[in-house]
Formats: sequence, C-alpha cells, structure tokens
Amino acid sequence: MAVDLLLGLQWGDEGKGKIVDVFTSKYDIIARFQGGPNAGHTLVFNGRKHVLHTIPSGIFHDNTINLVGNGVVIDPVIFKKELDKLDEQNVDYKKSLCISRKAHIILPTHRLLDAASEASKGKAKIGSTLKGIGPTYMDKTGRNGIRVGDIEMADWKKKYRALADKHEAMISFYNVDIEYNLNELESEFFKAIDTLKSLQFIDSEDYIHKAQVEGKSILAEGAQGSLLDIDFGTYPYVTSSNTTAAGACTGLGVAPSKIGDVFGIFKAYTTRVGSGPFPTELFDEDGETMGRVGHEFGATTGRPRRCGWLDLVALRYACQVNGVTQLIMMKGDVLSGFERLKVCTAYDYKGKTISHLPYNIESENVKPIYTELKGWSADLTEMTKASELPQEFNDYVTFLENELEIPITIVSVGPDRKQTIIRKEV
Ligand code: GDP
Ligand code: IMO
Ligand code: MG
Repeated sequence: MAVDLLLGLQWGDEGKGKIVDVFTSKYDIIARFQGGPNAGHTLVFNGRKHVLHTIPSGIFHDNTINLVGNGVVIDPVIFKKELDKLDEQNVDYKKSLCISRKAHIILPTHRLLDAASEASKGKAKIGSTLKGIGPTYMDKTGRNGIRVGDIEMADWKKKYRALADKHEAMISFYNVDIEYNLNELESEFFKAIDTLKSLQFIDSEDYIHKAQVEGKSILAEGAQGSLLDIDFGTYPYVTSSNTTAAGACTGLGVAPSKIGDVFGIFKAYTTRVGSGPFPTELFDEDGETMGRVGHEFGATTGRPRRCGWLDLVALRYACQVNGVTQLIMMKGDVLSGFERLKVCTAYDYKGKTISHLPYNIESENVKPIYTELKGWSADLTEMTKASELPQEFNDYVTFLENELEIPITIVSVGPDRKQTIIRKEV
C-alpha cells in the first residue's frame, strides 16, 4: 500500500500535529521521518492540550503503531520527558512506539555546540531552537554521529567519549561565553539512554517494507515546514533536514514510487519563528491581531511567532516541491473579524512582477503584490459542517483553490480535534 504524507507548507507550526491526530484512526502506522525536538506538535482533545516533540502524533490512539524513523534526531533527555508525560496520562506506548536503529542521537554537547554557534553569529543568528539539531545532522553527514543502534553495542561509550571530547574542543574554538556542567548533563543523558533502551528498536526500513507488503496503511508525519527545508527553504535561515516530500523517502526508506497522497497543511495566514526573510510579514495592528487571536507562540520555545498575510507565491512553490495532492487550511477562525483580507499573489522583484519564489526574498529585493478579498465576521469555532461556513470564507477558500489548482479538502476552525470540517470528500 502507498504511504501518504502530511507536511507543513510554510515555516512550520501549521497545525500538523492536530491533523495527524484527526487522521490517525484511518492509519495503522504513523511515522515521523525527520527533524527532532525542534518540533512542537500540539493536539487538543477532551479539553486537554498535549505537545509532542519527537513522538509521532498518533500516540494517543490505541491500535496504531508510532514509528520514529531513521531521518529523525533524538534527544534522549527530551524523549524521556515526553514519555514521562505519557505515563502521567496512562498512555500505554510500550507496544505501540518503536524507534529506528538508524536514527541519530543528540548528545548534550550537540546542544552546547548549537548555543555556541548561535552566540558566535551575533545578529546573523538563525534563531535556532537550540536543541542541537544542526550539529547532530552535521555529525550525521560528516559520518561521525552516534545512532540508536550503537547504544546496543558494548563499546558505544568509547565512541561517545571521543565525540563529546571533540565537541568540547569545538566549543572552546567558538570563544563565546557558554557555561555548562558536562558531568550533570551526562548523568541526565545516560539515565535517559537507559529509558530509551526499554523501548523497541527496529530495523525500520525493513519494518516499513513488510508493513506495505501486508497492506498496512502508513501516514508519514512531517516536522517543520517546506520553507525551512535545508535545500528548498530560505537558506541559511532553515533547519538542517529535508522537510519536504523527498525527506520522507530518505527518512523512512520508502521508495518514491510508493508515495500516495500528499496532504499539504497551511495556515490561512503566515507565521514564522526565528530569523530570516518573510515578505508578507506585518508590523501593524493586523499582525498583532493574528498573533493575539491565534495564540502565536512557539510550542517548543514559547517565542512569539512573526505574523503576516498568506503568501501564495511561497505556497505555490511548496505545493510544487512536495507534489501536494490535497490541501488542508488551518486557523481560518483566527481571521474572523477582519474587514478586508490580503493575499499575496505575486512579487515585485527588483521592479519586475514575478510569480515564482526567487533565490533571494530579502525585503530589499521583494515587495508583495496583494489581492484584497472581503473578510467575514462570523465566529467559525462552533461550526461543524461545510454548509454553515459564511460566503466570504468560502470565497476566500475558493480563491486559493483556483490560484493553487489543488483542492482544499479540509478546513480547521479551532485547535480541538472536533473543530475540523470536511469540505470535499476525495
Ligand atoms: P505544528 O507544529 O504544525 O503541529 O503546529 P503547532 O502545534 O506548533 O502550532 C499550531 C497551533 O495552532 C497550536 O497551538 C494548535 O493548538 C493551534 N491550532 C491548530 N489548528 C487550529 C485552528 O484551526 N484554529 C486555531 N485557532 N488554532 C489551531
Ligand atoms: P514544527 O514541527 C517552526 C525554526 C527555528 C529556526 C530554524 C532553525 O513544530 O512545525 P533549528 O532548531 O532547527 O536549528 O532551528 O527553524 N524551526 C521551527 N519553526 N516550527 C518548527 O517545528 C520548527 N523547527 C525549527 O525557529 O528559525
Ligand atoms: Mg510546532
């Protein structure tokens, strides 16, 4: 059976966690394929909010396998904290959660290196979540990393020591003020490694292959967003993994010919957390309203998210790169009350009108060109059927569908599982 993908099309935080949770009842396996604890995926049901960082968002459903793929980087300390939270809620994950032996491990010194690198960059900092993501992927591609499978080997601590020592030398090279107590960090780390070891480690590509042969349905859960992709994002203000569809192939061992539906998730407006260009960013009352009504604060770091109008130039690009087959629009409820809505349909790029995402989208080169649409005033959050949605909302959605030439099959009108409206059955 083909593997479906669910991906963020903007700069992350589109609402991936919520929709994976909504979709989980239809799938046998939910698999994360990249990123790590830089992600924060929020699920809301039965009046409770849950934030997951590394654990797939299907974990609250019985009878679903949740797989952490080879493309993911795992911080055992954060992973253990996530497990502790699940324990508090009596979620039985022992049988349903499994981890690829090929996933890489974030060491305490990776986190320190992240902090040292950011501190040394000054104003040019990426705005990293400081979870050690960049340094861990650097060690992966540099062929120095430690993988989950290594911790089953007798001599892995030797390998650990050599790498941590090297990291310490690198930290001092940065010559920035980073205070740390490695003994304390290591004691927490090794305890967490013991917890990790109590989970099921698998040869995940083989597992996934067999599951496909057996006709099991699989949904791959993306982290971050397409504009944070290491190749296709707004480099260097990106994360260090392929967040786009191709990342699911390398991050799980799924052949490109075995990809089924690609669900692309976007917010009805745009947000970004961290540094980097953002052509439609608002610095006025409208942006402030989006942030306040949408509670736009990072689920991992708590930082305020930058807000702006929807950017169709960037969204079209993300749809192309990912081969999106269905779109899901999130947070339409946040736009209730805006008299007029703006949508960026093209860029003025150095005086010329263009409709594709150019190499450089810094504000000195790019000015958004907007189309204005009429807003709606009704509160959408209690609506459950497409027939209840106001005309102006439908006009907004139809306008986007026509521009992107992909159906918007689901609209989300609130954070809760239940606040999800199917617009079109496909
Ligand atoms: P993810 O990283 O893509 O999973 O998204 P996050 O969880 O970081 O951020 C999405 C935020 O929006 C979370 O606080 C969700 O609870 C919330 N959310 C998701 N969908 C909706 C929606 O349709 N309306 C509103 N108002 N909030 C939503
Ligand atoms: P989810 O999965 C939003 C951003 C950081 C920073 C850049 C690099 O919740 O959508 P990193 O820690 O990867 O070195 O940070 O990427 N970033 C995210 N922004 N949502 C995320 O994940 C993000 N993960 C990383 O803010 O700008
Ligand atoms: Mg998030």
